[in-house]
Amino acid sequence: MGKRASGGRKAPTPRGVNHVVLNVRDIEESHRFWTEVVGLKHVGTFRPPPEMEPFPKMRFYSGERDGKVTHHDVALMELSDIPPPAGANEAPERPLALNHIAIAMADREAWLEKLADLQAQGVKFDMRVNHGVSHSVYISDPNGYGVEILYELPRVLWENDIEAGLNYLEILPTEGEAALQDDLESAPRFGAPAAE
Ligand SMILES: [Fe+2]
Repeated sequence: MGKRASGGRKAPTPRGVNHVVLNVRDIEESHRFWTEVVGLKHVGTFRPPPEMEPFPKMRFYSGERDGKVTHHDVALMELSDIPPPAGANEAPERPLALNHIAIAMADREAWLEKLADLQAQGVKFDMRVNHGVSHSVYISDPNGYGVEILYELPRVLWENDIEAGLNYLEILPTEGEAALQDDLESAPRFGAPAAE
């Protein structure tokens, strides 16, 4: 959907997001969340050259695709003066620039397993939503950043009308057994060609 800027220039289109770096208050606390709750693998730690010291602590994390890690999907950088996250119904001390990061599970089965594991760990589900493009659970990291954990719905359901897929929302229960249920069979198809 590349739009021509004035002068006829067309901006080259990237493949997509490669990684995200989060500023965190306490790298050990966030390390536990991103490895033990989200389940990313710790793949590296930045070792700054002496001339860069003092440099904030920084670690790198990856998911797995076809059994392989990448160099990083997410990195954490410790900046201890970040204010603590606001409690429920409290305004944050300053606007959080980051709304949420979405982490994809490999498939529906892996996502259902993740939901059950999160609930068993006592992780609070902030929201459960069936979007037209993904089925998602939203949780919060220790800094208050939102983390959406999802599985992608088959392209055929949304690729013919992405706008409609994005605007479809079905809010689901966040507690108990009901929070672990998933209905893929009733997922709507957007922009589907007319039936013959
Ligand atoms: Fe999202």
